Amino acid sequence: MNWRDYWNQDTPIYTSERHKLLHYRLIANDIIGLIPSPEAVVLDYGCGEALFADKVAAKCRQLYLSDAAPLVRERLNERFQDNGRITILSTDNVTDLADASLDLIVVNSLVQYLSLDEFRALLKLMHEKLKADGTLVLGDVLPPDLSPLTDAKALISFAWQGGFLRSAVSGLARTAFSEYRRIREEVGLAQYSEEEILDLLEDAGFEPRRSERNLGHNQARMTFVARPAQARDTDDFAER
Ligand SMILES: C[S@@+](CC[C@H](N)C(=O)[O-])C[C@H]1O[C@@H](n2cnc3c(N)ncnc32)[C@H](O)[C@@H]1O
Repeated sequence: MNWRDYWNQDTPIYTSERHKLLHYRLIANDIIGLIPSPEAVVLDYGCGEALFADKVAAKCRQLYLSDAAPLVRERLNERFQDNGRITILSTDNVTDLADASLDLIVVNSLVQYLSLDEFRALLKLMHEKLKADGTLVLGDVLPPDLSPLTDAKALISFAWQGGFLRSAVSGLARTAFSEYRRIREEVGLAQYSEEEILDLLEDAGFEPRRSERNLGHNQARMTFVARPAQARDTDDFAER
């Protein structure tokens, strides 16, 4: 099994319904904080179940939700089919969006499941779809030294605050023996240093910076904010 297949099923990643709700509420609030204006066109790529996408959609003109997993898209369609501001897209549909049409693209907690070639191709696609003054936000990127123990501590702290400590502890024990752990050992999770991500973003034509805060609850992971690099001013040449 690969990561795409893994996500096309009910996973034990969320240790309880409350965990899932609090997670998606936090992500939705973080995305809302990034929306530049009520007129913005926003893409949440690799969005998962995006349980609070209606709250995000209420703060922008149009919200595209895209996920590779057909099961996830089916659930999104069931939940949001009556919301005129939300459109559910397959990953192929994203390729069909008009170039330079998006104000904000959020890719949260996806990079770790992509090969380097897939990640480079995704950055190229995102660059094509963003407006010249648009913003790409890559969230929840795993640094190379991040251990499962650090992730576990962050989850326990989130669970303590959110009132789902007991399910988090038993969920962590389940994950230790789960399919997730097995695929992680077989396929691996992509981990990048800050410099590597900044270089990859620059190679794809962005001006990137690391954000002070990560999206979501785990501050041991990293978020990057990137804008398309401005075309070199032709006056540079005129002066010569
Ligand atoms: C860890 S979840 C993150 C969901 C959401 N962004 C969040 O922050 O909670 C990863 C999601 O990425 C989706 N996914 C995996 N590979 C993908 C790909 N190549 N393109 C788009 N989505 C993908 C999975 O189906 C899954 O829903």
